[in-house]
Amino acid sequence: MTIHENYSLRACNTFGIDAKAARFCAVASVVDIWTAIKQNTDKLPVFILGGGSNLLLRHDLPYLVLKNEIKGIKIVEENDETALVAAGGGENWHDFVLWCIAHNLGGVENLSLIPGTVGAAPIQNIGAYGVELKDVFERLDATHLGTGGIGTFDAYICDFGYRDSIFKRGLKGKYAITRVYFRLQKTHKLNLSYGAIAQTLEAKGIKKPTIKDVSDAVIEIRSSKLPDPTEIGNSGSFFKNPELSKTDFEAVETNFPDIVHYNLPNGNVKVPAGWLIEQCGWKGKRVGNTGAYKNQALVLVNYGNASGAEVWSLAEEIAQSVADKFGIRIVPEVNVLPYQN
Ligand code: EPU
Repeated sequence: MTIHENYSLRACNTFGIDAKAARFCAVASVVDIWTAIKQNTDKLPVFILGGGSNLLLRHDLPYLVLKNEIKGIKIVEENDETALVAAGGGENWHDFVLWCIAHNLGGVENLSLIPGTVGAAPIQNIGAYGVELKDVFERLDATHLGTGGIGTFDAYICDFGYRDSIFKRGLKGKYAITRVYFRLQKTHKLNLSYGAIAQTLEAKGIKKPTIKDVSDAVIEIRSSKLPDPTEIGNSGSFFKNPELSKTDFEAVETNFPDIVHYNLPNGNVKVPAGWLIEQCGWKGKRVGNTGAYKNQALVLVNYGNASGAEVWSLAEEIAQSVADKFGIRIVPEVNVLPYQN
């Protein structure tokens, strides 16, 4: 285990931003985390990095960055209907999904091709095409970055919400998620509620889809809308889709009768941020080295040498224009670092 000083994070974030960590170390076990914490005698704040796919590095990080490389996937318990699968926090998320499909275990196929790691997935309760991580989550193991104490957290403690959990609130930055346990189905219950999946399957003439068919459809849909981070730097959706009260929504709808929206079971109304941003004229627009992607305005991109500050400045400008036009505040979904107080 080597601790590096002044380490470039360019290859460690899918936005491809060239910011540096004051100190950097890859950790492959809980013991490695303990060792790194013990050696952190000048008490730099500790930050756990996963796949770096949901991050915007605005500046260099005055942190000790620990890259989670804890590996291993196995079935730890099973019955006739389900299997409990444990996966190391440093496993690549999509590789984990493919492992589940290869073992004929259903539940995560709609979450195919989401960049990032298994350990980062619960933090923002990753979701796509009608499924969220919380739907298959059983529990997780985590190590406290201050004391080194280890704990187990169930779904109740994690308190998942839309792109949200306790690890984005009260426990933000406090724990390394070392292992996640998923309850997966042997008898598959496919979720085809998201129109594009059903359309893609139909276009391929698939009448009785398998979990592999659904995964392939999701991969096709994602690839057509979202830029490949190995070609164009990005962090997926940059902002969350805002949720408005019915009254607030109706006030906006009076002025914008065509506004795209979804009624939520709790009575609120969700508006796609991608639509709001497109209406403000940002879709496909390039500003210096950055811009809003041509096929999905919610995705901000780095065309080459954008600095984190440049992307952040565009994000602020976009949010301001949405607020000015619609009176709706959109907030980042990505983790913006260093943290602002
Ligand atoms: N839209 C536009 N213009 C755009 C983009 C979207 O008008 O440029 C409108 C369209 O009407 C479209 C609607 O917005 O029907 C929704 O778009 P889309 O289906 O692409 O989904 P999204 O709400 O923009 C969310 C997630 C994605 C996830 C997809 C599919 C958030 C913040 N994003 O995007 O997650 O893949 O749904 O489930 O909830 C991510 O979190 O990084 C991510 C990519």
